[in-house]
Amino acid sequence: MTHIAVLGSTNMDLVAYVEKAPQRGETVTGREFRTIPGGKGANQAIAAARAGATVSMIGAVGNDPYGTQLRSTLEHSGVDTDHLRTVEGPSGTAHIVVDDEGGNAIVVIPAANGTVDHLAPGDEGLIASADALLLQLEIPLKAVVAGAEAARAHGVRTILTPAPAQPLPPELLAVTDLLLPNEYEATTLTGLSDPIAAARALLDQVPAVVVTLGAAGSLYVARDGADPLAVPAPPVTAVDSTGAGDTFAGTLAVALSEERPIREALHWAAAAAALSVQRPGASASMPYRSEIEKQHNA
Ligand code: RIB
Ligand code: NA
Repeated sequence: MTHIAVLGSTNMDLVAYVEKAPQRGETVTGREFRTIPGGKGANQAIAAARAGATVSMIGAVGNDPYGTQLRSTLEHSGVDTDHLRTVEGPSGTAHIVVDDEGGNAIVVIPAANGTVDHLAPGDEGLIASADALLLQLEIPLKAVVAGAEAARAHGVRTILTPAPAQPLPPELLAVTDLLLPNEYEATTLTGLSDPIAAARALLDQVPAVVVTLGAAGSLYVARDGADPLAVPAPPVTAVDSTGAGDTFAGTLAVALSEERPIREALHWAAAAAALSVQRPGASASMPYRSEIEKQHNA
C-alpha cells in the first residue's frame, strides 16, 4: 500500500441546509442542521484512506468534545493520528450554509489549527517515510512551508491545495510538485480568469498544475511540454459539494502514488469527487475504493 501524509486542519463542520443562502441583513429559515467532521486536512486524509492508502495525519484538535469526535472519525477511517496533537482550547469549526443547488458558503474559525505553526518532533521523520505529502492552507503558512521543505528534502512528492485562496510565498511554490487550485484560487494566484492561461502562468513557479473545474472536471498542465489535458467529470446531480475538492485531492494523491498515468489518475479522482457531491457532508460523503473503481469504469 502507498503511504500518504497529510499536514493540515481538522474542523467540525456546522452545516445549515437552506433553499437559498441569506444576503447580508437577511434571515432565512433553513431545513436542517448537521454537525459533520471536516477540515481540508482531515477531509483529504479520509479521502486518501478510503481510496486505499495508509494515511497519517499531522495537525491539532482542541480538548473539547469536537476534538474527541474529530480524532475518532479519523481513526475509524483508518487514519493514523499519532501526530495529531490535542491542545488546550476549542477545535476548529467551519460554519457552512449549503443551498438547494449543492453550493456552499463557509466561515472557518481555526482555533486549534492555529497552533500548528511548526513541525513537532517526529513529524519530519513521518513525512520522510511517505510517498506523498498533502497540504492546504487552513493552518499557519509557516508550518505549510516547513512541511513542504521537509518533504522536498526527502524526495517526497508535495501536493498543495491553495485553499482558502490567498497569495503564496515563493518559497512555498518552490517546494511544491503539484499545485491543485480550483478556478477561483487559480485566478486569485495569477489575476487571470481563464483557467488554461492561469495554469500556464503558474508553471513559472511549479512543475505541474491541476485546476479543478467542478462539474466540468479538471485541467492538467506541466512543464514537460505536453499539451494541456482536460479530463471531464461524470455528470451527476449535486446535493452538497462541501469537500469535493478535498476528495479529489486525496484520491489523486493515492492514484499518483500508485503510479497510475496522469489521465487515469485524474479520471479516478473525478469519479471520487462526483460520488461525494451526491451525498451530504464532507468526510461523511467520501467514497471507498470499490465505489471509485466502479464509477471510474462506468
Ligand atoms: O474543503 C471543505 C472544508 O473546508 C470543510 O470541511 C470545512 O471544514 C472547510 O474547512
Ligand atoms: Na458531499
